[in-house]
Amino acid sequence: MRWTSWLLFATGVVSGANAASLTQVTENFGPNPRNVGFYIYVPDKLAANPPILVNPHWCHGDARASYAGSQYATMASKYGFIVIYPDSPNTADKCWDVSSNSTLTHDAGGDSLGIVSMVRWTLNKYKGDPKRVFVTGVSSGAMMTSTLIGAYPDVFAAGSAFAGVPFGCFAANGYGVWSDACATGKVTRTPAEWAALVTAAYPGYTGWRPKMQIFHGTLDETLNYANFEEEVKEWNAVFGYSQTPTSSTPNTPVSNWTKYVYGPNNWFEAYRAGGVTHNIQNQEAVVMSWFDLACTSGDCFSWGEGGA
Ligand SMILES: *[C@@H]1O[C@H](CO)[C@@H](O)[C@H](O)[C@H]1NC(C)=O
Ligand SMILES: *[C@@H]1O[C@H](CO)[C@@H](O)[C@H](O)[C@H]1NC(C)=O
Repeated sequence: MRWTSWLLFATGVVSGANAASLTQVTENFGPNPRNVGFYIYVPDKLAANPPILVNPHWCHGDARASYAGSQYATMASKYGFIVIYPDSPNTADKCWDVSSNSTLTHDAGGDSLGIVSMVRWTLNKYKGDPKRVFVTGVSSGAMMTSTLIGAYPDVFAAGSAFAGVPFGCFAANGYGVWSDACATGKVTRTPAEWAALVTAAYPGYTGWRPKMQIFHGTLDETLNYANFEEEVKEWNAVFGYSQTPTSSTPNTPVSNWTKYVYGPNNWFEAYRAGGVTHNIQNQEAVVMSWFDLACTSGDCFSWGEGGA
């Protein structure tokens, strides 16, 4: 008898700890004109009004690779937030649509709208905190991060982009068009021109802007490092900040990386990863801290707080 109860207890604990897994949502979750795949990780123990983290994958990746390729699901289990892993409908190269006018425009369609529909559905279904929605990604996932931060400033509280390009840099006439000019660092604009692209993404929007964090390797052979400088120009102009950093800290968070902070409220930070190629190491701990995702009660960072 004692043995049986122990077995039942043990089984309960084991299945409880392992019950959560990556799950595909196949029901109608709202406007999704490009048919973006929706995968979600909902931990067994959710925080009250859980925050949501969106983690778009890289080119030639998919939702499952993104789920397996970072610590975010583990962190979600620990802190009770939900992770959305969208899956690109572009079967040719699995890159995100960061080129079409619709993806670069608020509520106008493209891959970005499908992803935002996932966020809206999840907020509703799990009573999520609409002020604590975040997005991070690497490479094409970073480009989608910039796209979402630019076109949906009302949905996201902060973004973190590793080895991406400025919002609008890939703009073209069509879905998922690859821009060689941008990738090789030949698209340069003034800060005002970049900011105008972001403003045009959501005409009439004058509200609060999500804070932004970027990382880029100086030896990036896929998305030239020049894009780092262009992103710095763009986000500083969006926030109305000076292009001169308020601080720079060497060897942070990795040896030979330099952290630059801009603006009076530390609303924008940029990490130059010296000697790093496109294969840049994810920095989950820095990103978790930027989003304040380990905060489970009290005054956690949320949309509308501080900043610009
Ligand atoms: C982009 O799409 C929006 C909304 O559909 C439209 O108002 C705008 O004119 C389009 N811009 C271009 C350059 O096609
Ligand atoms: C450190 O970064 C510089 C570029 O900023 C690079 O030239 C150098 O090779 C890097 N050193 C190492 C050890 O990666």
